[in-house]
Amino acid sequence: MARHRSGQPQIPLKDARAQATMRRAGRIVALALAKVGEALRPGITTGELDALAEQTIRGLGAVPTFLGYQGYPATACLSVNQEVVHGIPGPRPLREGDILGVDLGATVEGWVADGAFTFPVGVVSAETTRLLEAGQGALAAGIAMARPGNRIRDIGAAIEGFTKAQGYTVVRDLCGHGVGRSMHEPPQVPNYPAPGGEQVLSAGMALAIEPMVNAGGAGVRILNDGWTFVTLDGSLSVHFEHTVLIQPEGPEIITLLR
Ligand code: MF3
Ligand code: CO
Repeated sequence: MARHRSGQPQIPLKDARAQATMRRAGRIVALALAKVGEALRPGITTGELDALAEQTIRGLGAVPTFLGYQGYPATACLSVNQEVVHGIPGPRPLREGDILGVDLGATVEGWVADGAFTFPVGVVSAETTRLLEAGQGALAAGIAMARPGNRIRDIGAAIEGFTKAQGYTVVRDLCGHGVGRSMHEPPQVPNYPAPGGEQVLSAGMALAIEPMVNAGGAGVRILNDGWTFVTLDGSLSVHFEHTVLIQPEGPEIITLLR
């Protein structure tokens, strides 16, 4: 991989045409997340929700980015309760009071957008609602730092600062990433101010910012299925992600319905 003088990998810039195509992919991600959110109810299985996500993405003329990625078997990652990310859809029925992290990608003409949202299933506890809000706040705090002249580390510092102030922890073993021609491009975007985060952001970069916030400790482990990350202590975890284009005037979120 090409490296520039600081020893960090080059961050590919997106021209106007690439950005326009990524916006189309981003809108499809947002629509698919909304569809899954609308269909959510106690009793529905994660497999049924995955089928809906796939139909929605394909119906809008895009390709599900995750399907087949490093052998991943589904369109969406659907992570329940103490599952952090990369939960594999299947026959599991959701129950009232669960939370469901929905993470999916759409590819349009070879350009990728990636997004995630954690939904309550039916009525959840006040404490769970507070965790969901903290996760969304952490993502918003990170996105606000995605502007030219700031550094990668500023994003993680804002995410971690916000999360700690809420009394929660951010997962350190998984991070956000550049996104574009492939789902994972340089740079890595840690959710805390990690070493190596001094790269300066500039207009034309595209980042997938995706904090995972745990109610308990920050530790995670991977299950025997080789994919599903869960919290070490069994505490609840939430995950929110947007793909962001860095514009001269600041962040443009492309995985939102506008
Ligand atoms: N949003 C996740 C990520 O950026 C999704 C990848 S999961 C996989 O890493 F299934 F596609 F591998
Ligand atoms: Co991602």
